[in-house]
Amino acid sequence: MNLGEKCESYLLELASITERREGLTRLYLTKEHKRALKTIQGWMEEVGLKTIVDDAGNLIGSHFCKDKNQPTLIMGSHQDSVINGGIYDGMLGVVAPIIALHEIDLNSLSYNLKIVAFGDEEGVRFKTTYLGSKALTGNFSDELLNIKDENDIALKEALKIFGLNPANISESKLVEEKLSYVEVHIEQGPVLEKENTSVGIVKAINAFQRYEITIDGKAGHAGTTPMNMRQDAGVVMAETAVFIKEIAEQTDGLVATIGQASLKPGAINVIPDQSVFSLDIRAPEEIIIDRAIGKIKEKMKAVSYECGVTYQMKRLARGDACICNENIINLIKSSVEENKIKPVYLNSGAGHDAQEMSNIANVGMLFVRCKEGISHHPDEYVKITDLESSVNVVQSILKNYNKG
Ligand code: HGY
Ligand code: MN
Ligand code: MN
Repeated sequence: MNLGEKCESYLLELASITERREGLTRLYLTKEHKRALKTIQGWMEEVGLKTIVDDAGNLIGSHFCKDKNQPTLIMGSHQDSVINGGIYDGMLGVVAPIIALHEIDLNSLSYNLKIVAFGDEEGVRFKTTYLGSKALTGNFSDELLNIKDENDIALKEALKIFGLNPANISESKLVEEKLSYVEVHIEQGPVLEKENTSVGIVKAINAFQRYEITIDGKAGHAGTTPMNMRQDAGVVMAETAVFIKEIAEQTDGLVATIGQASLKPGAINVIPDQSVFSLDIRAPEEIIIDRAIGKIKEKMKAVSYECGVTYQMKRLARGDACICNENIINLIKSSVEENKIKPVYLNSGAGHDAQEMSNIANVGMLFVRCKEGISHHPDEYVKITDLESSVNVVQSILKNYNKG
């Protein structure tokens, strides 16, 4: 089995650890999460890494070189998925460095190495992001522990049920000084296919914000309430959604998505008195997002007044735009060229743990081509030859890091 085939076999094994049949669904602090950690832990220990699971549910495989004062290279990504997601998003970044180590003697490394499977990056269960990497950066604030999932289970409880100690999460903060972080991740976009190349070098990661918008109107009979006497929370949600789409289309670099929506009481013949929907909005710079949010708030104020409803806009999460570190970009570039691949540079529209890790480390990302850029979908796919390229480049990164 070559490195690409081995990578694929690991990914397929992880993909079988899912709560549903169609696509991969593995959420944070679930029994699927626990099974996936056990599987990855075995692979890490096979290549000689010392493993621990920290109290935020991150699995960390470490190798310490003789001189502990040497820099530390962290590689990794997230083990969690979206609902009915693909098998490469996140997992490829965990598996590729482990496979690369099958042909590298850890004792030949002149630096400390950590490989991390972050417990939660997608933020599907608790509607916020980077709960895993925030523990390593020290940004896991206590109020996060009170966030509840859709079954009304608080994060603090979920951690305890998983067998972790929420009071100890602050211990996860990395204290090493010279930290570098390199994440391998599928591109989730069309550029590498268009450039006809297997891997790419990320220059920057877009800023993002996530909101929950609640509109409160008045329920009424669908048949007897005249149109001009309604306080219809559903109509205001729909008008706002169209406005958000128009703002995004008119603003260069801005993308906006409403991925979740609900109406109450939710009967076919009752005018809804409440609508709740999500907004995921991103751009290369946060100021572009802030300007768009200002316009959306103005629109909601006007429409709410006109329709006699009230609205609330609660920000659930945000992430700065992240500029990747020049030295790490050059490390990845020379490793790509060493494998006779032309260096292609691109930005990331998707968020990644690298964004959070940039608070404590010099970060860079290696993107891997995926079919038609499809992601967050069961059709997500990476050719075995591209998996092999990514592992070969990771081997060069592991060999070239901290070299002179
Ligand atoms: O949503 C994202 O950008 C990433 O997949 N968490
Ligand atoms: Mn994702
Ligand atoms: Mn991801």
